[in-house]
Amino acid sequence: MRTQLLDTARTGLTARSGVLFHGPAGIGKSVLVSALTADTVGTVLRCSPSEADADLPFAGLVDLVARIPDSCLQALAPELRDALQAALLRGPAPADGRGRLAVRVAVLEVLRVLAADNPVVLVLDGLQ
Ligand SMILES: Nc1ncnc2c1ncn2[C@@H]1O[C@H](COP(=O)(O)OP(=O)(O)O)[C@@H](O)[C@H]1O
Ligand SMILES: [Mg+2]
Repeated sequence: MRTQLLDTARTGLTARSGVLFHGPAGIGKSVLVSALTADTVGTVLRCSPSEADADLPFAGLVDLVARIPDSCLQALAPELRDALQAALLRGPAPADGRGRLAVRVAVLEVLRVLAADNPVVLVLDGLQ
């Protein structure tokens, strides 16, 4: 049963852009994702935000970006890099109001840079 589910999920990751597991807490979604990503080729970026993280800006992003090599961040334009570094609490926040939009653009850009070299799997566990 689980083998069949894993095969279907692998197809979802390769033939399509992604796969969504849903169901009640404790049904085994996180364990399944770990099994799925254990043999994934490429970079796996994962976040598992808890309820307590809901009020913390960019809490999930901190975990996702943690495994992105610094060289990818260095490839960003300075304005985007500074905004992302600020969101990750690695640098001062930009003085103007463009920061939040710049963070979004920076995340897209850095994922593009990362995905140019090898496959990237984004795991958002416990999205609700
Ligand atoms: N295939 C499985 N066989 C036995 N136990 C499992 C299996 N999948 C999950 N579990 C156990 O069930 C519990 C909940 O699994 P988890 O993946 O955290 O659920 P969810 O993410 O859906 O809330 C964990 O203690 C896990 O060890
Ligand atoms: Mg879970």
